[in-house]
Amino acid sequence: MIVAIDGPAGAGKSSVARGLAERLGFHYLDTGAMYRAVTWLALHEGIPLDDGLALQALAAANPVSFDDGRGVSVAGEDVTARIREPEIDAAVPVVARHPEVREVMRVRQRELGRLGDSVIEGRDIGVVVVPDAEVKVWLVADPAVRARRRHLERDGLEMEELAAELRRRDERDSVNTHRAPDAVEVDTTDLTLDDVIDRVAALVEAAR
Ligand code: DC
Repeated sequence: MIVAIDGPAGAGKSSVARGLAERLGFHYLDTGAMYRAVTWLALHEGIPLDDGLALQALAAANPVSFDDGRGVSVAGEDVTARIREPEIDAAVPVVARHPEVREVMRVRQRELGRLGDSVIEGRDIGVVVVPDAEVKVWLVADPAVRARRRHLERDGLEMEELAAELRRRDERDSVNTHRAPDAVEVDTTDLTLDDVIDRVAALVEAAR
């Protein structure tokens, strides 16, 4: 079974998807981490971020892999921590916008999704990557709450700065962020993480 979790940055996708996968014993696939890893590699290798074909070749030659825990590797390097740096936050929407890059990433995402029951989080999972996912969730949250969540993840950045960054990212990511018509919307603003996981787990039960 595939559970697709889509939504904007800071809506709670990663915590919900990871927690749900743990609870159900499903694989967890963070597709944002894959775009981040390719972005890291492009910067590392000096590939121009406006060259879609060069980025596509780079992504095709260097499939991103995950270890059992939270580790992310590309081109033989463990990039788990490095892909969360502000430099990557800024560059990743530019890389993720190229259709040529997305094509390669989707093939890899589907391949990883076929390993077994999986919770896949991203922006286009329910619409493009796995349109026949058995469960589709669209997570949303109030912008102030989303900025606060990112504040907790990223030490040292001011709230106003984060709110502005979030708005910029929403704008840049919007072209690839799609809500499936058959997705169930869950607003996480006033819910605890456990509440959200309970709700999604109930949808999974209903779909079994
Ligand atoms: O969720 P995140 O912040 O780790 O995502 C990183 C970037 O990748 C962000 O710009 C959105 C983009 N992304 C995408 O275009 N499609 C996906 N399926 C997942 C992420």
